[in-house]
Amino acid sequence: MLDVSSIREDFPALHELKDGKPIIYADSACMSLKPKQVINALVDYYSHYTACAGRSPHAFSRETTRLYNESRKKIAAFINAKDASEVVWVRNTTEALNLGGNILNLNSKEKPTIITTSESHNSNLVKWVRLESLGRINLIIIPTHIDCVFDIEKFTSVVEKCSPGNFLASLNHISNVTAAKIPVKELGKIVHENEGILQLDAAQSFPHTPIDVQKMEIDLLGASMHKALGPTGVGILYGKYDLLEQLEPLILGGETVSDVKALNSGKVNIELLNPPSKFEAGLQDYAGAIGSGAAIDYLNSVGMENIAEYEVHLANKMLTGLEETLGKKIQVLGPKDPKHRAALAAIDLKGINPHEVAILMDEMNNIFLRSGYHCAHYWHHTINLNEGTLRPSWYLYNTVEEIEIFIATLEEIISMLT
Ligand code: ALA
Repeated sequence: MLDVSSIREDFPALHELKDGKPIIYADSACMSLKPKQVINALVDYYSHYTACAGRSPHAFSRETTRLYNESRKKIAAFINAKDASEVVWVRNTTEALNLGGNILNLNSKEKPTIITTSESHNSNLVKWVRLESLGRINLIIIPTHIDCVFDIEKFTSVVEKCSPGNFLASLNHISNVTAAKIPVKELGKIVHENEGILQLDAAQSFPHTPIDVQKMEIDLLGASMHKALGPTGVGILYGKYDLLEQLEPLILGGETVSDVKALNSGKVNIELLNPPSKFEAGLQDYAGAIGSGAAIDYLNSVGMENIAEYEVHLANKMLTGLEETLGKKIQVLGPKDPKHRAALAAIDLKGINPHEVAILMDEMNNIFLRSGYHCAHYWHHTINLNEGTLRPSWYLYNTVEEIEIFIATLEEIISMLT
């Protein structure tokens, strides 16, 4: 088990008081807090060697380049990519998945197919719906099973009907609403047997559970560092190198080309750099990338297996506590077994407005959590939760005592409002 009290010492925000009382941070699925090691890495960059990477020959730039590349290597090792060149810096998971979607030939005669699931976050749905409405792809949305267990049979039958080599399965590894985990390796096999590509939305898994892109047969993967103890506005796209070579960038500009010159014909010729450079146009968030390296160091020092195990413990305490205290007054969505889910829960308050409850949680006991659709509008509407849900989400710095306070406060609010 983790040494949670010493972990908590590393997170300055956990020691903030509001109205003279401690805070309970239960919103890590949206944004994780940052340890001082990450904050210090950012301050160091801005205080001691602020510069561009890969451009100027001076000492500040050399240091920025060194640490920028080091961080890329750390990310690659963290997910067991074959090489650091398979990791592209982007802004967030949304950008990663949008970019990954470019792997399909949207101009081919036969429309490509994208397969996703109904609990997908908007980052893994809105772009596909848009492409479908423009007539560029076929979109298949597999409905989430009532018990939130991934419907492998349905998935297999959908995949088998796709044209080999002309489809992308873009799936949530762990849902930010049902909290359910999917069997990635098994699904990867099914996709590859049918010559498709598997893209993983790892926003909710990368920070919480070990990922091995090679063993799990993942072709493309998007994740956000801001949910993984890292700075805001930094994400990564992992891609197998041969796929990154084929992938069309979203943006082009400085440092994406080796040369730009006129041909004899008068036309201008550009020579794109190899991945990952061709995707990183213009000045990048160097501080963010370097801070991300510090976040990876922190996660490694605690150990991803340890974090995953601790979160099963937290999920168990949350599920049993809610069941014992509130029973049928609420509905906790997602798998019942804590081993098959993340330490977060979308809670249906059965007619009570989740926003009102979230505000009261903050006012009464400094409990910070999220209410609404959590960027999964479609899923909420498919199950008629049109006012959304209340969602606590826990991480390595949370304690069982905090979960108990959350449950007691929820009980108090529900009795006040009914
Ligand atoms: N994906 C983030 C969340 O679920 C924004 O809160």
